[in-house]
Amino acid sequence: MKKVRIGIIGIGEIGTTKHLTQLCRHSDEVEIAALCDILPERCEKAIKDFGLNAKIYTDYREICADASLDVIHVCTPNPLHKEMSILAMENGKHVYCEKPLALTWADAQEMMEVEKKTGKKLASGTQWRYNTAPMEMKRMFEAGEFGDVYYIRSSQLRPRRLPAYGVYTNKALNGGGVLMDGGPHSIDLPMWLTNNYEVATVRGVTFDKMKNFPDCNELGPWDPDNFDVEDTAMAMITMKNGMLIYVETAWVSNMLQEAPGIIASIAGNKAGADMVGPGFEEAVRVTREVDGKLTTETRIPEKKYNMWEYDMDRWVEAVTGDGEPAVNSYQAAVVTRVIEAIYESAETGKTIVFD
Ligand SMILES: NC(=O)c1ccc[n+]([C@@H]2O[C@H](COP(=O)([O-])OP(=O)(O)OC[C@H]3O[C@@H](n4cnc5c(N)ncnc54)[C@H](O)[C@@H]3O)[C@@H](O)[C@H]2O)c1
Repeated sequence: MKKVRIGIIGIGEIGTTKHLTQLCRHSDEVEIAALCDILPERCEKAIKDFGLNAKIYTDYREICADASLDVIHVCTPNPLHKEMSILAMENGKHVYCEKPLALTWADAQEMMEVEKKTGKKLASGTQWRYNTAPMEMKRMFEAGEFGDVYYIRSSQLRPRRLPAYGVYTNKALNGGGVLMDGGPHSIDLPMWLTNNYEVATVRGVTFDKMKNFPDCNELGPWDPDNFDVEDTAMAMITMKNGMLIYVETAWVSNMLQEAPGIIASIAGNKAGADMVGPGFEEAVRVTREVDGKLTTETRIPEKKYNMWEYDMDRWVEAVTGDGEPAVNSYQAAVVTRVIEAIYESAETGKTIVFD
């Protein structure tokens, strides 16, 4: 069988650590046939590191026009996602576009229109939901163990983990700050857990109180003079069924959450659960009444999930056959709409009402 030919635009951190690493696990089904970066030395290094036989491009328009490619992965800074994804789909390619799908709801809708018009598949990259603890929570939700779910808290308070490389602290080049980085994962997780992307209202607040404290950062110090984005954001999202989601996300924080990464707590009228340690989102602590007594038990599921592998396995299934992307464009577009609403709410002090 002919292998599906993939091109990747943006050979930086995620293009390398996630996309190249995961796609190389599927070398029987797909071939990484082309790489594109404005810094061609990054492509050369990746070809050497991953043992590829790939053509190098420095202009995304040329890789999108390469008729030998079936699929394009867009791993460039956020403001470039829309244009690159649309051009690739219009050239007949399926597209895996990193998160956030776009900067605005209008742009995301335009991308979905092109997806529909071209009949190509459009995926996005909020793979955090495929860790062990979220998968266990989702199983419990589907089994009705929580009963009527009315509240979810989604937290990602990193003590000191701001991506000091690339363009993350520059609004014009990144489209925003932590909301555009960890935000999509934090917002997507509770909606995915409850199969509910029907937003009613959004009230958000953003802060940049930590930008002048660049020391102690795990990923190296940043430049406070090149920093015009938020480092922290909080939002209350009410859903059309009455459920409330509270999201808190920070690159830099003096609050320590119980486990690293993105964790969530869920409250239903039959049971509730929190993602906890010991590992990286591996365990779920369940609280509920059993025989008239309030009990709390920590479950460490035997089946472990690796978010990177799970997500890319689904994508390879989607581009080599009839499978659907794990994170679809509609889910990613709603997340983009919520981010846009958080910014608007933070700026105006108003609650944003969705139609
Ligand atoms: N899914 C996840 O968990 C996750 C994690 C990190 C980053 N991301 C997303 O991945 C994207 C890239 O982030 P990163 O951390 O890899 O950044 P990065 O700065 O390490 O990599 C971006 C790459 O794009 C290249 N580039 C910039 N403009 C280009 C252009 N016009 N044409 C071709 N190449 C161009 C840069 O030279 C760089 O090599 C962002 O959208 C980010 O939100 C997703």
